[in-house]
Amino acid sequence: MCGIVGYVGRRMLVPVVLEGLKRLEYRGYDSAGIVYLQDGALVKYRSEGKLQNLENILGEAIGAPAHIGLGHTRWATHGAPTTENAHPHSDCTGELVVVHNGIIENYHSLRNELLEKGHTFASETDTEVLAHLIEEYLEDDLRAAVSKALARVEGSYALGVLWTGMPDTLIAARNHSPLVLGVHDEEGGFMASDIPPLLPYTDQIVFLDDLELVVLKGDSHTIYSLVTGDKVEKEVKTISWNSAMAEKGGFKHFMLKEIYEQPQAIIDTVSGRINPETGSVELPEMNLSDDELAGIERIFLVACGTSWHAALVAKYWIERWAKIPVEVDIASEFRYRKLLIDEKVLTVSISQSGETADTLAGIRLARDLGSKIVTICNVVGSTMTREAHGTVYTHAGPEIGVASTKAFTSQLAALFLFTLYLAEKRGRMEADKRLELGRELINLAAVIDAMLPRLQEEIKKLIESYYDARDFLFVGRGLNFPIALEGALKLKEISYIHAEGYASGELKHGPIALIDKDMPVLGLAPKDAVYQKSISNLEEIKARQGRLILIGTEGDEHLKCITDDVIYLPEVHEELNPILYTIPAQLLSYEIASRRGCDVDQPRNLAKSVTVE
Ligand code: AGP
Repeated sequence: MCGIVGYVGRRMLVPVVLEGLKRLEYRGYDSAGIVYLQDGALVKYRSEGKLQNLENILGEAIGAPAHIGLGHTRWATHGAPTTENAHPHSDCTGELVVVHNGIIENYHSLRNELLEKGHTFASETDTEVLAHLIEEYLEDDLRAAVSKALARVEGSYALGVLWTGMPDTLIAARNHSPLVLGVHDEEGGFMASDIPPLLPYTDQIVFLDDLELVVLKGDSHTIYSLVTGDKVEKEVKTISWNSAMAEKGGFKHFMLKEIYEQPQAIIDTVSGRINPETGSVELPEMNLSDDELAGIERIFLVACGTSWHAALVAKYWIERWAKIPVEVDIASEFRYRKLLIDEKVLTVSISQSGETADTLAGIRLARDLGSKIVTICNVVGSTMTREAHGTVYTHAGPEIGVASTKAFTSQLAALFLFTLYLAEKRGRMEADKRLELGRELINLAAVIDAMLPRLQEEIKKLIESYYDARDFLFVGRGLNFPIALEGALKLKEISYIHAEGYASGELKHGPIALIDKDMPVLGLAPKDAVYQKSISNLEEIKARQGRLILIGTEGDEHLKCITDDVIYLPEVHEELNPILYTIPAQLLSYEIASRRGCDVDQPRNLAKSVTVE
């Protein structure tokens, strides 16, 4: 989705904003623009395509002596991704500019009203309406004009506004679209749609809430409620992420770096939460009392995409170990179906970003129906964490690659902890078992760390005979069925190969018709409780000449009788196989996409953080 960066302070504006926009590239975009104030006038540059195009047209303007301005990367919703539709958008005078993320739902009627009043429009976007609407209300107080304009608006926005009449001030506002401030006594004031652009300058972050407006200057920030007009006092939070975490660190792509960061992300997610002596789990930030935990009759897990796959794995874990019935929903379905939810239901949202529009809408609905909300989330202070009653943070660090990798395995680690926690609190698991499983989880990071380089080499060689496939199937059973779905999603999103994931036992109910000598099938076949069943399904694929790649347990020679292409993984406790078996699926997708020359970190049409419905 779109990205906003705004800055006012002592530094040169263009490099700060340009670098900030680069750090938001992962969000997905198709055009970009920048505006700054120089000698009392606004100077605007915009271009289609990648930021490099914008950088090219900026030329010497990169060194412009400007200290206040805004930048934007646009992911087209209203109007094609052209230069004319790129942000910033201006009012009729050219003295006021706006950058905007989100959707102005009533832009049609506002546009007609403004056209009748004589405003002229230069783009097809909904955003431009905002510039003209603010112009309509502007006398000498920009804050008042923006507030009046926003009172007319239906929809979602994160907004940055600059006006020549207030040359030391940026206005920011948000409603249902993320926006954060970075503050620093000497460096100045920053605004951005996510944290990475702020990291080189400050770790002091202010998380804005919906319907808040900020007057941002180099040495101050004042927040107002758009509902009451009153000042709002907000905490400035210190975050633990640093600038290097949002850089590639010698890897070719963020995705590969993030695959390699998984052992650390798992350690960081688990450490301090599980007692290696007793297996007892501490999750105090969940904010649920023992009585509330004891009273849970059902759990709804709500998420999108990869996070939904984590939810599917968690259903197996929670039902088996905590013995609580679990329903798993795709958030965009959950929010539009008749929900049988009350105060005895615990709703758990799973989201890397904590900003996904459908998942947010889902937890708001569940909360209104009386359910307690817990979110499993990677971004401290994100909207979801602020709206939930409690949070279990994954500590994966910033995830920049659009394809989620370390966030997913950290979600699984957090959900496994969550399972042990529930099982313990509800007296469903013996201390010995907890201890055994807890230790296995702690040891898993080292197992993954040790196997990664060898695995990548093997997969790199293997994909030479598969990288040009047109279709791909992924199959798995039990705990590894969701991993088959995740493997297929990963492959399709970054390599554009059509891929589907199936429960192995489901093949003969339809998909087996697709199997022939040209169809590659990746089978997950660890030595687990359903191993024999999986093998039968894989034999059926072999009998129809499917091109099998098998991922299985070290020492399982039988797999070699089925196919030559076997990837062996170390044996771990079978409950943790979903975390382990995700890694080769990620590497396979990465190597295939790389071999095909795809833009691995920023796949076409995709956005990292899906903040619109
Ligand atoms: C996965 O590779 C995708 N980037 C996508 O499916 C993602 O998991 C989904 O959009 C949900 O995002 P969230 O975890 O930030 O809510």
